[in-house]
Amino acid sequence: MKVVTTHAELRAALDAAGRGAPVVLAPTMGALHHGHLELVRLARNEAGPRGMVVVSIFVNPIQFDRAVDLESYPRPLDEDLARCRAAGVDLVFVPEAAAMYAADRSVRVHESLLSRGLCGARRPGHFDGVCTVVLKLFMLTRCDAAVFGEKDFQQLAIVRRMVRDLDLPVRIVACPTVRETDGLAMSSRNVRLNPDQRADAPRIHRALSDAARIDGGIDGVRAMLDAARAAIVASPLARIDYLELVDAETLQPVDTLERDAVLATAVFYGDVRLIDHMRVPAQPS
Ligand code: PAF
Repeated sequence: MKVVTTHAELRAALDAAGRGAPVVLAPTMGALHHGHLELVRLARNEAGPRGMVVVSIFVNPIQFDRAVDLESYPRPLDEDLARCRAAGVDLVFVPEAAAMYAADRSVRVHESLLSRGLCGARRPGHFDGVCTVVLKLFMLTRCDAAVFGEKDFQQLAIVRRMVRDLDLPVRIVACPTVRETDGLAMSSRNVRLNPDQRADAPRIHRALSDAARIDGGIDGVRAMLDAARAAIVASPLARIDYLELVDAETLQPVDTLERDAVLATAVFYGDVRLIDHMRVPAQPS
């Protein structure tokens, strides 16, 4: 496995590998857990044994809206590299922020529709930061395909929209959410939960899965949201940032289940913000 930090080293490593075999990127911000290793596994599937699996590790400053979140984001690089090596990654790209962003940079990608609600509404500029870095990583790694986790389903929808709208020649592969045995969605932020918060946090997944089973007929959507909300706020440790039922494609809030929907939430435990969601299939009346 090769580790490169500069654009020039990355270019040289890609050139050395030749142009024949597919390059598949798993973009990450590090602090790799089993969910990321699942991205790597899917990337290897896509690339095949002769293809090249590239992992980028970059805590992208322009997608953080809160300084505390950026500063406290875990950066265990040695462990991350060991995990990549064990998972059979071919190339790891670990750029410096100064090399990714010129001090006088003046161009960024702006998504104007799917990012309006949910996390986008609470984190101004977040998805523009994600789109900008993802586009740069696509260009730098010249990848044929890239793997994104379904856990960040709004991010996945927005990246797909960017690929469609900008005709990017990259196939997007979705990786199902990986969960701890108690149901908590794996996230690099989980390590920042204290023991009480960690023990409590699986209630998010339970609340969403129980609520998603409620019949979505007349007043069903309201009942679903009320049930999920009640199950989360029953804990004094949890504070809901948002809880919404949105259309699975447009991400706009819905009050009927005529089309597939997603019950999505962000919950604060102290200053740690966890997100999760559950698909709710259409229940045509
Ligand atoms: O999902 C993430 O870890 C990040 O948003 C990504 C896609 C690596 C862009 O920084």
